[in-house]
Amino acid sequence: MTQLRDFNAAALNWDEQPRRVKLAGEIAAAIEAAVPLSEQWDGLDFGCGTGLVTLQLAPVLRSMTGVDSSSGMLERLSAKIETAGFSNVRTELCNLEEGKLPAGMYHLITSSMTLHHIREIAPLLKSLKTLLHPGGWIALADLETEDGTFHDDPTGIFHHGFSAKELTDLLEGAGFSSIAITTAATVTKGDRTFPVLLATAQSL
Ligand SMILES: C[S@@+](CC[C@H](N)C(=O)[O-])C[C@H]1O[C@@H](n2cnc3c(N)ncnc32)[C@H](O)[C@@H]1O
Repeated sequence: MTQLRDFNAAALNWDEQPRRVKLAGEIAAAIEAAVPLSEQWDGLDFGCGTGLVTLQLAPVLRSMTGVDSSSGMLERLSAKIETAGFSNVRTELCNLEEGKLPAGMYHLITSSMTLHHIREIAPLLKSLKTLLHPGGWIALADLETEDGTFHDDPTGIFHHGFSAKELTDLLEGAGFSSIAITTAATVTKGDRTFPVLLATAQSL
């Protein structure tokens, strides 16, 4: 079995990489452009990490829940919530690959750069759909299919990105409607550029 990545260790200096902060900002902006967000909505950010996307979307939603399987990542997010005084953001430690689900029902589920760390995407999407109110939205951002050179360390990487067709088929298979795919951002590493796709869809 491929080993899992040590995200607790990565959490210590996660936000010190400007590329990550810039990408999260662009993904959050792309979600705001693609989804008609409402201050009446409760959102959930799956694989939230230190909350780079979570905290950017929180001000335009009623609440935001950051869900992650790494306690180290959630400690960082909790510290940021306290320092910045966010009263509408909470965290929940949960590994969605272990069949566990976070508490609550949501109008929006987001995910940024987490899908490629999940072995089986289809069951995950079906589980996430059960957390959405009728008409609720999902917004998944991840690398477009790449040649495996994006990550210097292959530990815990189960997919070298996704094509628009793969994402569409996965969302259709999980029962989502109104599927749309856009390019949310590009990441430059050395002389290489990696597009990041945003897939949005509704649970009707
Ligand atoms: C590449 S990081 C992205 C973090 C954040 N979304 C961002 O854009 O900076 C992937 C995150 O997904 C989390 N993760 C990986 N597998 C998970 C699982 N099965 N359940 C919940 N979170 C998971 C990791 O702990 C990590 O924080």
